[in-house]
Amino acid sequence: MGQTILVTGGAGFIGSNLVRFILENRPDDRVINLDALTYAGNLESLADLMDDPRHEFVHADIADVEKLEGVMPRVDSVLHLAAESHVDRSIHDPSLFLKTNIIGTQVLLDAAKRHGVGRFVYVSTDEVYGELPLDDKSQLFTEETPLKPNSPYAVSKTGGDMLARAYWHTYGMNVSITRCSNNFGAYQFPEKVIPLFVNKLIEGEQVPLYGDGSNVRDWLHVLDHCEAICRVLDDGKPGEAYNIGGNNERSNLELTRMLIDLCGRDESAIKHVEDRLGHDKRYAIDASKIRRELGWEPTRSAWPGALEETVQWYKDNRVWCDHVRSGEYKRFYAQNYSGS
Ligand code: NAD
Ligand code: TYD
Repeated sequence: MGQTILVTGGAGFIGSNLVRFILENRPDDRVINLDALTYAGNLESLADLMDDPRHEFVHADIADVEKLEGVMPRVDSVLHLAAESHVDRSIHDPSLFLKTNIIGTQVLLDAAKRHGVGRFVYVSTDEVYGELPLDDKSQLFTEETPLKPNSPYAVSKTGGDMLARAYWHTYGMNVSITRCSNNFGAYQFPEKVIPLFVNKLIEGEQVPLYGDGSNVRDWLHVLDHCEAICRVLDDGKPGEAYNIGGNNERSNLELTRMLIDLCGRDESAIKHVEDRLGHDKRYAIDASKIRRELGWEPTRSAWPGALEETVQWYKDNRVWCDHVRSGEYKRFYAQNYSGS
C-alpha cells in the first residue's frame, strides 16, 4: 500500500536524487519535500518534478514547529536528510551546524513523535566514526566501531544520530539510522570536491588539493545511496544503524588525476594548498550488514564508468552550475578562501 514520505532536505544533492528515485521507483508513494532552501538547496534540481502530483514542496525549516504541525498529520514515514553538510564551513563556523543538525533534528523527531509517525530514518554519515589509518587497509568502519567524530560537522551529525537512537530507546519510536560514505553524482553543490574540481578544470583553473592528497575516501554513487535508504525504510530494524559504502577507496590524488584526465588537462592543474584542519585520513566502510540483512549492494558505483558519467553531467549542465554557484557560495569563498 502506498504511503506519504516526508523527505527533509529534498532540494539538496542527495535529497533531490532521492525524491526523483522515490517518484520513479515507488509508484504508490507520495513525497512531501520539506526544505529551507539554504545556499545548498536549489529548486532547479527538481525542475522536472515540480508539477508532479505525487510531489509537494514545502518551504520550511526543520525547526519550524508550526510548519511541521501543518504537514505531520499527513506523513506516514520520515526520511531526514536536511543538514548543514560541508566540513570546511563547519570548521569556519560550527554554530549553524549544531543548530540545524542537532536542535533541528530534535524538533523534527518531537513533531514525528507527537503525530505518531510510523517510521523515521535518520541519514547519518560514516564521519561519525572518525578516521582510519592510511597504513592498515584491513581496518574498516563497522556498525560496532566506537563513534569518535573529529570535525564540528561530524560532531553535529553524531548528535543527530544519537538523538535518533535515543527516541527509539526512550519513546519506542520506529527509528533506523544510515551511515554512508562519500557520495558522487548529479546535482552535488560545487563546493564538494568532485563538482568543485570538475568546474575548475573545465574553466581552465587550478584545483586546490589539500595537503599531499593522500587522504582516502570511499566513493558511492548517489543513486546507490538512495536505494539503500529505501531498503532501510522498508526493512531496517528499529534502533539499528546500517553502514552504506561503495567498496571504492581512492586517495584524493588518485581522484584528482582521474578528473584531470576526464577533463583533458594535465598535472600542472594541481595546486597543493594548506591542509584542512584536523583532516580525517581515511574513511572505509564495511557494508556487510546491509548486504546480509537487507540484500543491498551497490550497482551504479564502479569507476571509471560511473565517474565519467558524473563528469559528463557537470559538463552538460553548465547553466545549473552557474546558477547554484552565484550568490551566497561566491560570497563565502571570496571571504574565506581568497588566495588559497
Ligand atoms: P546538501 O548540503 O546538498 O543538502 C542539504 C539540504 O538541506 C539543502 O537542500 C538545504 O537547503 C537543506 N537544509 C539545510 N538546513 C535546513 C533546515 N534547517 N531546514 C530544512 N532544510 C534545510 O547535503 P547532501 O550532500 O545532500 O547531504 C544530505 C544528507 O546526507 C545530510 O544529512 C548529510 O549529512 C548526509 N550525508 C551526505 C553524504 C555526502 O557525501 N554528501 C554522505 C553521507 C551522509
Ligand atoms: P569533501 O567533498 O569536502 O567531502 P568530505 O570532507 O565530507 O569527505 O572532500 C572530499 C575530500 O577532498 C576530503 O579529503 C577533502 C578533499 N578536498 C580537497 O583536497 N580540496 C578541496 O577543495 C575540497 C573541497 C576537498
